Amino acid sequence: MLQTSLHFSHRLLEEIIQPGDQVVDATMGNGHDTALLAKLVGITGKVYAFDVQKAAIDATRKCLSEQKLMEQSTLFHQGHETIKDVITIETPIKAAIFNLGYLPKSDKEIITQPDTTKAAVDALLDRLVSKGRIILVVYYGHEGGKEELSMVEALCRNLPQQNYNVLSYQFINQMNHPPILYCIEKK
Ligand SMILES: C[S@@+](CC[C@H](N)C(=O)[O-])C[C@H]1O[C@@H](n2cnc3c(N)ncnc32)[C@H](O)[C@@H]1O
Repeated sequence: MLQTSLHFSHRLLEEIIQPGDQVVDATMGNGHDTALLAKLVGITGKVYAFDVQKAAIDATRKCLSEQKLMEQSTLFHQGHETIKDVITIETPIKAAIFNLGYLPKSDKEIITQPDTTKAAVDALLDRLVSKGRIILVVYYGHEGGKEELSMVEALCRNLPQQNYNVLSYQFINQMNHPPILYCIEKK
């Protein structure tokens, strides 16, 4: 069966991440992606994870602690637009994941925004290693979601072909705005 964008995002991460790699979860939420990344990089690697909501940090810390994955994880209670301030330009980032939208079963007013998402992607592009990937899973059914989707689509389309491969993946016959996945791979 065809995979959902969420499952496909995990496959794209699993294909390239090795023990010892440094990676980013730009939208921690309940920590499901952070936990996957922490397992893949192992104790010799590092996951940098960001969220603006304290509830997300608490949920992620609990999830990681239960699975003994805290050692390789650094959680930032701050927006991903600060990546350029806390991850040095020399840090080789192998992969990053964004789940854009709001945290399910939480405050639907707290959503990711085009400007801050773009700042984070730009900072990550500067740190991405060759063959590294940035994955964006865009939920856009909520108010403001379409503007963010337009920004991501334009950003991805305008990346030069000589430096990046860019993929989009979406179901085109489903109701209720299924998320669209974008994967940027540095050549
Ligand atoms: C769709 S949820 C992420 C779900 C998460 N991947 C999971 O596994 O549970 C989007 C998250 O982005 C967070 N967010 C909103 N603005 C942000 C920003 N500027 N920087 C980082 N996270 C942000 C929200 O608080 C929310 O938790």
